[in-house]
Amino acid sequence: MRAANEAVAQRGRFTIALSGGSTPKNLHTLLATNARNSLPWDRTFFFWGDERHVPPTDPDSNYRMAEETLLSKIPVAAANVFRIPAENPDAAAAAEAYEQTLRKFFALQPGQFPRFDLILLGMGPDGHTASLFPGSAALQEKSRLVVANWVEKFKTNRITLTLPVLNAAYCVAFLVSGTEKAAALRAVLEGDAPGEQYPSKLVRPTDGKLIWLVDRAAASGLKLTQPH
Ligand code: 6PG
Repeated sequence: MRAANEAVAQRGRFTIALSGGSTPKNLHTLLATNARNSLPWDRTFFFWGDERHVPPTDPDSNYRMAEETLLSKIPVAAANVFRIPAENPDAAAAAEAYEQTLRKFFALQPGQFPRFDLILLGMGPDGHTASLFPGSAALQEKSRLVVANWVEKFKTNRITLTLPVLNAAYCVAFLVSGTEKAAALRAVLEGDAPGEQYPSKLVRPTDGKLIWLVDRAAASGLKLTQPH
């Protein structure tokens, strides 16, 4: 809520990239209830950090999750919602199309990256975020905004924003909960393993805020939570 109101006050609009996975569902529900009447939905523009290579009606679709838990419950115009066209059987073409959507919406010059007001991210037990998985090709991307990223363990492509876009944001907020995330969170926040191994480590906004919203279970392995 603070990020939304600050962005509208300072820049006239609020651009947010939603996260996939299950952890954001409760946040979406809170936004659709407690905050329903106190957010500038008409000045809010929705994007996604990543998407599974499935149509928007598929149970695995991050868009579908957001539609069911948030977008269908708030007064937001369809013109303010920019989903990843993952129904395209060609994942690379879907990524290219979304890149053009971002370039147009943010009126980017060549070589420029969009500055989202807020990017919400999750983290997997392996330390991946968005669809930036350990050892995957997308981690090397320096100029594209959106890529199709082959994920060997799922034997599928994912479509994901790239690290330069994540690190250009005004604010990035991770939502991480559960003991199954504790080892990865310790590795990301306190470990010295390379970012290749724990991609969430590579999310370091160059001129923006980085916020970790974690529950006690996920934080249980962190030195800062250990009794001194
Ligand atoms: C996705 C996400 C992914 C997710 C993590 C955590 O498409 O799956 O964008 O990066 O945030 O896998 O998922 P959970 O919240 O379900 O633990």
